[in-house]
Amino acid sequence: MTAQNPARANGAHGQAWWERRAEDVERLISRYPKSRSALMGLLWMAQEERGWVAPEDMEYIAQRLGISRAYVESTCSFYSLYHRKPVGRYVITVCGNIMCGLSGAEALIRHFEQRLGIKLGETTADGLFTLLVTGECVAACDGAPAVQINEEYFHKVTPERADQIVQALRDGADLVELSERIGLIQPGAVWEAGESA
Ligand code: FES
Repeated sequence: MTAQNPARANGAHGQAWWERRAEDVERLISRYPKSRSALMGLLWMAQEERGWVAPEDMEYIAQRLGISRAYVESTCSFYSLYHRKPVGRYVITVCGNIMCGLSGAEALIRHFEQRLGIKLGETTADGLFTLLVTGECVAACDGAPAVQINEEYFHKVTPERADQIVQALRDGADLVELSERIGLIQPGAVWEAGESA
């Protein structure tokens, strides 16, 4: 996922992404017996291009698939990985479901807020971080409290670990490498406070 990027979404000459990527759109739709089945893929494509799904994207998708705008919107709003307003380059989503809730998710959210200088749902002024919480389990209960940053996972995120992750990303670390290096742990493993990121 990339940061919001209207220029990229509209192309260098104001061309909409669905015109520029017309072949990709057709290829995606042709995979399914019913074109409406391409809905989630097209929403994801819109988000790849813009960083979020804009009203004009939903309008196009509804028209292209022959479904109602309300149906597109309801699908888009159901899944927490789709964003319906501009977000930062890194979307930090803290899992707020039961296991993570019992493992300190609330305190972790407050810590991220303090560290980033924003409230839940906001984006830092430099456009780097957006902080969200999801009530849906993100399927990493053995790593509670779990955090997703864009599509990457970080397990057992203590406040110290949160600071290390934020600093590493501010310093230009590659998100995928960072997740592989310090984000994922084997069941039963425990990080020591102060362990280097
Ligand atoms: S409750 Fe958070 S990952 Fe399952």
